[in-house]
Amino acid sequence: MSKNKLKTAIIGAAGYTGGELLRLLIHHPNCELVYVHSNSQVGKTVSAVHPDLLGDCDLIFTDKVQTEGLDAVFLGLPHGQTRAFLDENPFPESTVIIDLSTDFRDESNGFIYGLPELNSAKISAAKKIANPGCFATAIQLGLLPAIHQGWATETVHVSGVTGSTGAGKKLSETSHFSYRNNNFSVYKLFTHQHLKEIKQSFGQIYPSVPEILFVPYRGNFTRGIWITSYFPFSGSLDEALSAYTDFYKDAAFTHITTEELSLKQVVGTNKCFVSIQKEAGQLVVYSAIDNLLKGAAGQAVQNFNLVFGLDEKSGLYLKSIAF
Ligand SMILES: NC(=O)c1ccc[n+]([C@@H]2O[C@H](COP(=O)([O-])OP(=O)(O)OC[C@H]3O[C@@H](n4cnc5c(N)ncnc54)[C@H](OP(=O)(O)O)[C@@H]3O)[C@@H](O)[C@H]2O)c1
Repeated sequence: MSKNKLKTAIIGAAGYTGGELLRLLIHHPNCELVYVHSNSQVGKTVSAVHPDLLGDCDLIFTDKVQTEGLDAVFLGLPHGQTRAFLDENPFPESTVIIDLSTDFRDESNGFIYGLPELNSAKISAAKKIANPGCFATAIQLGLLPAIHQGWATETVHVSGVTGSTGAGKKLSETSHFSYRNNNFSVYKLFTHQHLKEIKQSFGQIYPSVPEILFVPYRGNFTRGIWITSYFPFSGSLDEALSAYTDFYKDAAFTHITTEELSLKQVVGTNKCFVSIQKEAGQLVVYSAIDNLLKGAAGQAVQNFNLVFGLDEKSGLYLKSIAF
């Protein structure tokens, strides 16, 4: 490994987001992956747990947490576990921490909310990043320009469908094949935990935060999030297109269109595609991401690139499966 590569580690590397980070970081031109942590898979090779990585990575899972000598550590632990993990394993102040859980998305303990389209300057100067949630990323990217313009100040209707990987690797009743396949179901009506961070971001850019009536659904696919949002809008589609395009003029991965979208255009990539339409006096916004990439590991790598002053797309030149 070149001396110039940044030394990194992944905690929770046997899980879905940790595994996706592994797939990105082993090919990242500026990164040396020093160790991958797992309690359940200790002693196994990476490819024994992530079989598609056969031939790509010789690392063996360890349950030892080495806190010294790292430039950055990525944490892919379940909600509520990260705080305790960091208390037990304090990393030096110089080590950049990028956490994928909800634990510090309220920007407590010196963490910065890692949505580059909102906070890129703060992220570039940060040592601790709280990576946004997957639904939260897709909903915010669909609505931030409208909130910024003061166009959505009362009620915004939002519905969203997520693939089964959004629930993590551990098997549950609703991620079981027999439940999920050929099925469609609703959960956490109007109460999804990501509403908190969404409202926090909206409050950062506009004083009046709308009520968000969010209906989340489980889809019968494995990857991706599709969001539909709408609210009353008296302006024209051209006006909306101009505001949205301007808001994202410096965004590396968020792109605006008025064409119809499909989920496969973004699955496998770190992109968010946002499509806007004006119908029946409403601005209708579709936003689509890959929950494990722009919604998790890809965005974490994007934040890593910003913190270390790298090309924002480094390690993230990915292709969709498209068809
Ligand atoms: N899945 C998504 O689409 C997505 C999107 C955005 C954010 N997130 C967030 O990212 C985090 C990880 O999600 P995930 O989907 O990757 O979950 P996951 O597939 O269940 O993986 C979590 C990993 O954490 C490890 N772990 C559990 N408890 C631990 C502990 N106390 N100490 C150390 N390691 C522990 C487990 O590995 P071992 O048992 O092998 O140690 C497990 O592989 C969650 O907070 C989740 O909310 C997920």
